[in-house]
Amino acid sequence: MGSQLEVTHTAKHTDPACLALYGEAMSESVKYKRQFFAPAIRKYLPVEQFSVDRPCLILDLGSCTSALARDLVQDLPPYFHFIENDLDRNFLYIAREGVKEDGNETSFSHVQANAVQLPFQTASIDAVMHSSFFHEIFSFPVTGKGPFNFENCSQVVREISRIVRPGGYVFGRDYVARPQDAEEVLRVETTDYDGKTILDTAELLRTPINELSNSSKVARFLMEFEPARKWRSMNAGETKYLPAWLVSELLFHLNYTCSDAMWSSEIYEQYGDLSESEIHALALVHGFEPIQNDAVSHYDVAEGKGLNITNLKGEIVNTRDRFPTNTYLIWRKK
Ligand SMILES: C[S@@+](CC[C@H](N)C(=O)[O-])C[C@H]1O[C@@H](n2cnc3c(N)ncnc32)[C@H](O)[C@@H]1O
Repeated sequence: MGSQLEVTHTAKHTDPACLALYGEAMSESVKYKRQFFAPAIRKYLPVEQFSVDRPCLILDLGSCTSALARDLVQDLPPYFHFIENDLDRNFLYIAREGVKEDGNETSFSHVQANAVQLPFQTASIDAVMHSSFFHEIFSFPVTGKGPFNFENCSQVVREISRIVRPGGYVFGRDYVARPQDAEEVLRVETTDYDGKTILDTAELLRTPINELSNSSKVARFLMEFEPARKWRSMNAGETKYLPAWLVSELLFHLNYTCSDAMWSSEIYEQYGDLSESEIHALALVHGFEPIQNDAVSHYDVAEGKGLNITNLKGEIVNTRDRFPTNTYLIWRKK
């Protein structure tokens, strides 16, 4: 069932305007992503364990244009081999052109596949890395269970567990972790009225996203964000009462207003799929020892967004503490 997923399920892969923007965004983000992956590879896959006769195989799930792996490979000996995997062959094509340009073709293979069903033998891979990937598994209909489904994540972890050798590793990072008390209701008030505040629904959906005021962006988010549909009727003037997980999603999506293409490509995806404790449990269930499982905040996600976020007692919510902006994990296969 999983292998039947088509590229057309994921809007960003079919919109040419978005494809280019998306590729650029991935390249730009390499600088901070490498800070986690480079030391993790060096520490847990020490070069002395491998050789020309025993190469180190790293499977890069959801590799996109390979911007990250092209960077990482520069510091590794030639017997470190990256298997770049994506569902979308457009991205893999761009990736292959990139490694050709670098003169690094022998360090890479490219495999188009749905991560729920991978064409690799059991216990054949030394490490799996994934970055900005896991939330897509949660958000898209990658199995017969449909989108926004924990079973999808579980199936991918089961598949990773199958292909990683005993003693091998998983290095992963993704955006937010779902807040631990995700259902707590928070009060969201928009305080900045720059840009157009639009009440008419059709006009609200037509207007370029970066011309909208904050209150209109919040209204549009609640109208368009698939998992938020039941909260649309909760609009009360400029103040809304929303569960914490949805506030977390809102703050993240407000970072994607640089273009309409980027906004629409991201608006379907839910970033905070699993809480830190659920991610930990998933590792244990599928035979991994979690070595690192950190949900951290890099910046104040409400800063400059023109939003006041309070709890029902009226206390300001510290978004840095409450909404992690990145999750980093290292698992070891038992
Ligand atoms: C946000 S990009 C991450 C790119 C890269 N890993 C990085 O951090 O720079 C997520 C990628 O996952 C891919 N993807 C989504 N669902 C997938 C699936 N079921 N199997 C394989 N790849 C998938 C998408 O096509 C996309 O290229």
